[in-house]
Amino acid sequence: MVTAAQPPTTSTFSPLTTWDGWQQFVDTPPAPALDVGDQEWTQEQREDYHARFVVLKTPAMDTISTAVRGLLLLNRGQQGGARRGLIISGPATTGKTTAMQQLGRTVELADRRRHPNQDGRLPVLFITVPPSSTPKMLISEFARFLGLPALERMNQIQITNAVCGLLCELGTQLVLVDDVHLMDTRSRAGAETSDQLKYLGERIPATFVYSGIDVESSPLLTGVRGSQLAGRFKIVRNQPLRYGSPDDKQLWHDLMHSMDNALRLRHHRPGTLLTHAAYLHARTGGRMGSLSHLIREAALVSLLDGTEKITKKLLEQIELDTAAEQRARAPHRRRTRPQRQP
Ligand SMILES: Nc1ncnc2c1ncn2[C@@H]1O[C@H](COP(=O)(O)OP(=O)(O)OP(=O)(O)O)[C@@H](O)[C@H]1O
Ligand SMILES: [Mg+2]
Repeated sequence: MVTAAQPPTTSTFSPLTTWDGWQQFVDTPPAPALDVGDQEWTQEQREDYHARFVVLKTPAMDTISTAVRGLLLLNRGQQGGARRGLIISGPATTGKTTAMQQLGRTVELADRRRHPNQDGRLPVLFITVPPSSTPKMLISEFARFLGLPALERMNQIQITNAVCGLLCELGTQLVLVDDVHLMDTRSRAGAETSDQLKYLGERIPATFVYSGIDVESSPLLTGVRGSQLAGRFKIVRNQPLRYGSPDDKQLWHDLMHSMDNALRLRHHRPGTLLTHAAYLHARTGGRMGSLSHLIREAALVSLLDGTEKITKKLLEQIELDTAAEQRARAPHRRRTRPQRQP
């Protein structure tokens, strides 16, 4: 029997995989971008602003949001079993977790508008699959989010029953599970954990959204177990952004424009990021993670050394993660490959 989840506490740092942390995330909109010369804005606040910077809307975010809205409606009329879900799949650092969290935030805010002044609701839950997870570890993540006490004294079935009961009471509609690629269904523990997740999908009347690295080619969706999951889940690919066709370029340019507009550096020449759009794509491979890292670090370096502008020279000095640096060098080989003669 479920008593009550512990009320959110007000600690300074709570991960998003806790009720408290999730509420803080939903309640805290991005810091407003004041005018660059605004006296109210201290240097430290400007540094914080550029460290966090902006979340840009990508095409995958739109696709995910439309798909999940449809699923929430579809699943509302579905009492038992076979509810449909969504998998966000793509290479590392393409913004899968960010897209998922933004989705959760939107759904939660919409729920609050529909149910004003109603405490005791938890429309969205967000967890991450722990490395080498067992079924008990996975359900404990749900319980930890909810602040359920005395986990270590409960067995897996007790925790599962408590979690499912509570999520039904709290009206949870959307369960977000990140890093599902960490469940290696070739191992016994991984297979049992994926079974547990599927079981939770049947017990909790919510829409499940998973996210992970290249999930469609992972063992999670293959074999007998995988085919059941594959039959219920739609996949949205969260790919790096391309820079080939005119439409691709337009989209990338729009993103560069938005990022450039969001900068609050005293001597920045507006439009510089757009001017270097092709270079920025080559550097980052169109990955939101590398792009965000490059621009935020350049902005912070320029704030610290007082130049307060982003130039190509500065961008060239910033070292990205190893994978991005290797990719940035790789296209050179492709460009120099001999063209087939007509
Ligand atoms: N749409 C976006 N706008 C701005 N920054 C973004 C966006 N998407 C992702 N980022 C930034 O890129 C970084 C990586 O994003 P995120 O963690 O969402 O990627 P991921 O695909 O989940 O990575 P991993 O495969 O490592 O789990 C983060 O710092 C995030 O803030
Ligand atoms: Mg992630």
